[in-house]
Amino acid sequence: MSSKNVTVVGLQWGDEGKGKIVDCLAKTHRYVARFCGGANAGHSVNVGDEKFAMHLIPCGILHDGVRNVIGNGVAFDPAVATEEIAALQARGVKVGPENMLISDAANVVMPYHKLQDTLSEKQLGKGKIGTTARGIGPCYCDKSTRVTAIRAGELTDADNLTAKILRIVEQKNTIFSALYGEAGLDGEAIAAQYVEYGRQLAPMICNTGGILREAIQNGEGILFEGGQGSLLDIDHGTFPFVTSSPVTACGVPSGAGVPPSEVGTVVGIIKAYTSRVGAGPFPTEQDNEIGEFLRERGHEYGTTTGRPRRCGWFDAFAVKYAADLSGVNEFAVMLLDVLSGMDEIGICTGYTVAGQAVTRFDAAAMAEVKPVYEMVPGWQEDITGCRSFDELPAAAKSYIGRLEELLARPVGVISVGPKRSQTIPHKTSIGGLR
Ligand code: GDP
Ligand code: IMO
Ligand code: MG
Repeated sequence: MSSKNVTVVGLQWGDEGKGKIVDCLAKTHRYVARFCGGANAGHSVNVGDEKFAMHLIPCGILHDGVRNVIGNGVAFDPAVATEEIAALQARGVKVGPENMLISDAANVVMPYHKLQDTLSEKQLGKGKIGTTARGIGPCYCDKSTRVTAIRAGELTDADNLTAKILRIVEQKNTIFSALYGEAGLDGEAIAAQYVEYGRQLAPMICNTGGILREAIQNGEGILFEGGQGSLLDIDHGTFPFVTSSPVTACGVPSGAGVPPSEVGTVVGIIKAYTSRVGAGPFPTEQDNEIGEFLRERGHEYGTTTGRPRRCGWFDAFAVKYAADLSGVNEFAVMLLDVLSGMDEIGICTGYTVAGQAVTRFDAAAMAEVKPVYEMVPGWQEDITGCRSFDELPAAAKSYIGRLEELLARPVGVISVGPKRSQTIPHKTSIGGLR
């Protein structure tokens, strides 16, 4: 591995615990950069007794000396960003142009994107995706349409921004009225609000891709903070029940503006079981007392929307696919403590369709499959106080070993609680995790 950078990506359906690992690694990097998604993300970080839930601001913001980047691939919502910055500042966290940089090429989430997201889901009824209603899909849709997109760099040119917003809102209102019988939005009010966001954020808006490439030239390390999870990837996930951006390590180069060779060491974040929020296939879902046990023990309620998460057994077949896709070097196994108290634990090792074994994983065909389980012994002990691999119960060690076999890569660290201290170094090759 020639690059000193590290990429952290989720390998399931999001909420794997990326925030905690990014926080652990941030202090050993000069930059922490988001490259995908937007305020649909909810990354939790626990510092002592304090809890932070980050949506748009990278988790490196809690560390002095780290420069945080919202990359060009992010759907940038200035309403969330200004609110999140103010909330952090109110808690004594320094946020300013010296440690927070926003790509001028990031596409801006507008109020009509959020309205479109909500109305579209409402119209879909039972067939809805179960989005976070953050306007993510409609924002990336306008990015692809190009002529109706607004980039962060445009926020600072008040006159042009106002004219553009008035033109787009008129068009959007025609659509809202025709499709949904909705009254529409006030273009003048939106323009005034976004000119104000531009005024506030201007010092942070810059060419972040250029800055990151210079950092690479100068030998400074970058930590890429993934959002969502690989099975939610727009191209490689359980389409159409996915988000609207490339969220695997494959999304890093274009979403941050760095060469593919700079993705660096890829840490795949996995929950010791599986959770999913929103609709879509979930072969190992336990819609029963096991799922309830996991949800209550793991506090599986969305960081962004508060929705109860669906829970089930670990799916090694799906995670192996996701790890192969992102070129994962090592795993961080999170929330292992949640499994304490189970007599036996299921691991999905493959799928069948009509009684035939599936030989090649296909995320788009996941609704059709039946999982094949291997049941392994559980453990009763509370492991939240364990600080070394040796201290874990034998069954927990075996569980980790079995995951390594099935996934064909080492487990770098094991997390046994939300706190920084509840992290057990195992086979990691990354200095910052040892
Ligand atoms: P992210 O979106 O991948 O950053 O994950 P979230 O923050 O949405 O969800 C993970 C949740 O699990 C958060 O509430 C974390 O504080 C919590 N968490 C992280 N690691 C552990 C762990 O090892 N054990 C337990 N019990 N909770 C954890
Ligand atoms: P983090 O970064 C979990 C899910 C939504 C929905 C689908 C599409 O915290 O892991 P969207 O609003 O993106 O159009 O919704 O994707 N989703 C997430 N689920 N964690 C996330 O982020 C998610 N971001 C999007 O629930 O099913
Ligand atoms: Mg989350």
